[in-house]
Amino acid sequence: MTARLKAPKGTHDLFPAEAEKFAAVESVARRVFGSFGYGEIRTPIFESTELFARSVGETTDIVHKEMYTFPDRKGRSLTLRPENTAGVVRALVEKGLQEIPRPIRLWYAGPQFRYEQPQAGRYREFRQIGVELAGVASPAGDAEVLGMLFQFLRALGFTDAVATLNCIPRGQARQAFSKALQDHVRPHAERLGAEDRKRLDQNPLRLFDSKDPETRRILEGAPATLDFLDEASRSHHEELKRLLPGGGVPFVESASIVRGIDYYTLTVFEVTSARLGAQNALLGGGRYDDLVSDLGGAPTPAVGFAIGEDRLVEAMTEDVRPTRTLFWAIPDGPDEYLYALGVAREIRALLPDAIVESDLSGRGIVKGLSRAGHVATDPSRYPFRVGRVHAVLLGSKEREGDTVTVKDLATGKQETFPRNQLAERLAGRER
Ligand code: HAM
Repeated sequence: MTARLKAPKGTHDLFPAEAEKFAAVESVARRVFGSFGYGEIRTPIFESTELFARSVGETTDIVHKEMYTFPDRKGRSLTLRPENTAGVVRALVEKGLQEIPRPIRLWYAGPQFRYEQPQAGRYREFRQIGVELAGVASPAGDAEVLGMLFQFLRALGFTDAVATLNCIPRGQARQAFSKALQDHVRPHAERLGAEDRKRLDQNPLRLFDSKDPETRRILEGAPATLDFLDEASRSHHEELKRLLPGGGVPFVESASIVRGIDYYTLTVFEVTSARLGAQNALLGGGRYDDLVSDLGGAPTPAVGFAIGEDRLVEAMTEDVRPTRTLFWAIPDGPDEYLYALGVAREIRALLPDAIVESDLSGRGIVKGLSRAGHVATDPSRYPFRVGRVHAVLLGSKEREGDTVTVKDLATGKQETFPRNQLAERLAGRER
């Protein structure tokens, strides 16, 4: 026997009911982000490996051990995108920043790939919904992005979400912070694993990403980012905190949020949800004022975030899928198929948001009606929430008289009317 094929480890299939939740979340994103003037961008699923090395950073876990990297047939090194910010910035620089009206407001949704140990909420293929705002240096940009994020979360029923906020020193202040961190950790260096020892030497901020309990113990009492901010950074951070309530953003400060990516400068934030297990963040983001110029563009400040869409959907308690009316069209027999095809087509055209399903079992109206009853009470059958259910009975009488009989399954009310009155009779029954 041949072995049964399985989806690769850490990936999963989305069947209609699940896929519909993702689509519903994405349509809320489109509506909310669109209302702030953000437009959708779609960038390639794979990029040159160098892009991620130069943006996310060589010493990050993502680049160091989580990328799906492969040579193409011409030997170019390509990588399945582990995140989308680098691709968006690459696209902006490539198009020419001067070509794009400022500020640049973009959002995206799509799959990302990281070779991680799969567990609840952690996959090798996962989806992100993200936002990038480029061309605004002031904390008003950070506040806009965070305000929009919380409007989106509230629209999905996350009313208790709180942002954890930090500010990472930049430039010389960052070097001073890194040095202070090294001074704090170095006396305990012999207790560090090989990887953390390398982090200590090369990129001490990345020590905060370590999952090693020993490293975490050593980091207790480590210098705090906020104590190292220079004057300009401190006033950016203070001004942001003053603005956030105006955007409806609840937050707490935490010096231990440094995020596992190198491109951040100043503002960083995360949101965790009590509904997700343990240390899993629902989303993360921050400011990255040097990335555009690091990737060859004119210096352009930017800020954004990405939500783990799989985690978001798993943590949702409200069903945001649309409710649709179901019309269950039942031709009494093969003689009515032609008539039923036409009537179903007409109802779909009149009520585009309804589901019009034809009973193709060919078992007649009585059996068809009882099946409609079952279908109406089986919520797993449709990817949507099913609202009102109508059976559309199409027998020889209807066909010969060019009429339609519609039965509302909830009230049991049944009426027969001329087919050319479908529009008036069905008006208002869409949801
Ligand atoms: P990130 O923190 O690496 O940031 O990822 C953002 C979110 O993606 C995480 O908070 C998490 O919800 C989700 N996520 C990450 N890895 C996985 C995984 N293996 N399985 C399921 N979900 C996962 C970024 O990617 C930045 N590009 C965010 C950003 C945008 N910063 C500025 N602009």
